[in-house]
Amino acid sequence: MSIKIAVLLSGSGTTLQNIIDCCASGAIDGEVVCVVASRADAYGLTRADNSNIPNTAVLRKDHDNADIFSQAIWDFVNPHEPDLIVLAGFMSLLNVPERYDGRIMNVHPALIPAFCGKGMYGHHVHEAVIAYGAKLSGVTVHFVDGEYDNGPIIMQSTVEVKEDDTPETLAERVQAEERAIYPKAVQLFAEGRLKLDGRIVRILPE
Ligand code: GAR
Repeated sequence: MSIKIAVLLSGSGTTLQNIIDCCASGAIDGEVVCVVASRADAYGLTRADNSNIPNTAVLRKDHDNADIFSQAIWDFVNPHEPDLIVLAGFMSLLNVPERYDGRIMNVHPALIPAFCGKGMYGHHVHEAVIAYGAKLSGVTVHFVDGEYDNGPIIMQSTVEVKEDDTPETLAERVQAEERAIYPKAVQLFAEGRLKLDGRIVRILPE
């Protein structure tokens, strides 16, 4: 089934671009139907413009509380009737409305439940991994519930941490792995092959 995808982001949007490119190449049987950024200067909005995808910025500071902020995002997204919401470097906590239960995915640049939670995003994650002396890091794709980095895990992939890694070199290898596995998880969703069993995600055979 071809799915409609809404993408939420806060930054440069390389993850969005990868999803757009995978839809164009057929690696994902789907289409990005709208993009929301939580920052007005997010380059991801320009990428959305370049691909003629409806987009907007919804800023936390323009909303009295987190609930109203979340609602403003869903008010923009809902009319596009997405099948799946893809978080692509979206740095705020979201309320998950019932209609999107099990239909929001996130990618985290480490192996959850390590190096995750509030404040653990982007370079902070890689700095923490290196400072701790971990030998492995990686990528986690998971469903989103109402808590940071907490929902059922869909896919994980490991990346070696090298002794001379800086947060930047580690981020580069982790992001290459993100570009490989995030579209696969989205495509499994499109094929109806992700089945939630409590907090376990079963991947159904083709
Ligand atoms: C991605 O690398 C993703 O792992 C990270 O933000 C980056 C966004 O890059 N997400 C998190 O840290 C979520 N906790 P992008 O704006 O270029 O797609």
